[in-house]
Amino acid sequence: MKTIMKPEFWKESVVYEIYPRSFKDSNNDGIGDIPGIRSKLDYLQQLGVDILWLTPVYVSPNVDYGYDIKEHRDIQPEYGTMDDWKELLDDVHRRGMKLIMDLVVNHTSDQHEWFQQAISSPDNPYRDYYIWQAPKEDGSAPNNWISYLGDSMWKLDEASNEYYLHSYSEKQPDLNWENPKVRHDMKEMMRFWLDLGIDGYRIDAVNMISKDTSFPDAPPSDKLQANAEGFYKNGPRIHEYLHELYTDVFSHYKMFTAGEAASVSIDDVKKYTNPDREEMSMVLMIEASKVCDADNDMWQSKDWSLHDLKEIIAKWEEDIYGQGWMGIYLSNHDHPRLVSYLGHEGEYRTDSAKMLAMFLLTLRGTPYIYQGDEIGMTNAEHMKTIEDVKEQQAQGYYKQMVEEKGEDPEVIMERIRAKARDNARTPMQWDDSEHAGFSTATPWIPAHSNKAEINVAQQLEDKDSVFHFYRKMIGIRKESSALIYGKYACELSDDPYIFAYTREWNDEHWLIILNFSKSSTDLQLPEQLVERIQQSELMIGTHGEHSEGVVQALKSGQQTTLHPYESLAFRGLSILDQ
Ligand code: GLC
Ligand code: CA
Repeated sequence: MKTIMKPEFWKESVVYEIYPRSFKDSNNDGIGDIPGIRSKLDYLQQLGVDILWLTPVYVSPNVDYGYDIKEHRDIQPEYGTMDDWKELLDDVHRRGMKLIMDLVVNHTSDQHEWFQQAISSPDNPYRDYYIWQAPKEDGSAPNNWISYLGDSMWKLDEASNEYYLHSYSEKQPDLNWENPKVRHDMKEMMRFWLDLGIDGYRIDAVNMISKDTSFPDAPPSDKLQANAEGFYKNGPRIHEYLHELYTDVFSHYKMFTAGEAASVSIDDVKKYTNPDREEMSMVLMIEASKVCDADNDMWQSKDWSLHDLKEIIAKWEEDIYGQGWMGIYLSNHDHPRLVSYLGHEGEYRTDSAKMLAMFLLTLRGTPYIYQGDEIGMTNAEHMKTIEDVKEQQAQGYYKQMVEEKGEDPEVIMERIRAKARDNARTPMQWDDSEHAGFSTATPWIPAHSNKAEINVAQQLEDKDSVFHFYRKMIGIRKESSALIYGKYACELSDDPYIFAYTREWNDEHWLIILNFSKSSTDLQLPEQLVERIQQSELMIGTHGEHSEGVVQALKSGQQTTLHPYESLAFRGLSILDQ
């Protein structure tokens, strides 16, 4: 327990995720790049974030935009040179900020030298860097495992009549972590970047690296990845591998690791992040972005209820307390935009974006802000047909549903429009010029036309903007041990519109009240909360003077009405009687 509560820089920081391809284009070829990021460090510093996470900038054929690595130790020329990258790291450090890189260890590109060697012949020394299996007697794939793209995880190499495994695209073959040489080479690669001075890693798909090597069929399921547990997710040797990485690499540097681990149980999170076990610093909570998935199918949406969200948050905030640490990840480059799925894209966009900022920055766990969320950017609008879609997961789904199963293309496109990763990948909206100030050339993916209303230049000028709200919230969080370390408890848990919770640490306590609704909502606090806020001060509210009126009413125990998405954060310093 002691070690878990130990103060660490990575618990007290706010992380900002940069998707370099879409952040800022410095040489006007339509593709974001590293000098572009360097030119925006003032902006990021003004926002107040302290750690920047770059999604992959290594040499890649871009089947999965960098998550298919061809060369681990060099920079993709589109993004700049190694010198550009080193200058970026220096600039970041000079400002007292930190930089973490994306560590992709589950797979490489099929263009990687190792795979080129491996596929050249079964006798090649690199053959065993990947996972090969003979066909079943009838020639079919070794088992029924399904990739993230919806097809079989096995691809036949006709020359050798053996299948290789790919959890993602067939152009991203999975590495064989059972092979000590693979682990050795991966560790060398990690040290390469750590020796250059990076401050940590976000580890991609980390809970996929160990597989059940008897390769049994998984229980049949038509839901993508629903049957993965123990077979190729959180597999038999996963904790052993992570402990080995910790001992041989991570523990030798001042750094932290944040593991991307979809479908983990809370017990797994405790195992991955309990410092006594020496595995990872934190697991990223991704579950909130699944709250609107119907029936565990990421492509189908349902009207989510606040109750569902409260349950997810309670699981991570209460059950992990004192036993592990997590990153709070309400959005990223793989999911729809935060405002579009948890807030309101229309009339209440600004209000709901501010409420979501308050939510993200008052939860327990290291907050991750995805680029553009701090100005309330919304889902893309340009995906008319599948030709407009750049990302492979949506392309794979379309192929499977429309071309193979004969489903109505419009129905499938509607789902893709709501959920595709491209929603989060439109260019960062710097100003209202033709390509949103991202580039003067046509960007690799079109800028949203709402750049006229949603852009950095305008929000920097407007003191009431979403940007300035994020900036203030970040400042408030950094000043408060209770918001960083404090215990979380849900209040008004049955309320279908209001999400309220407390955070407590020593004599500092907070009450957060969020109207998670596009309607005005009546609120009267129960007696013990009235007493609590009588001893507290409103630190920040989303609705200026109106919020002050709300506070008066709440403090005197009366019923009052919150505007749509109106949210309030109270802080008190007395010792409360428990
Ligand atoms: C992670 C990344 C995603 C990528 C996948 C495969 O989920 O966030 O963008 O496609 O891993 O590397
Ligand atoms: Ca460029």
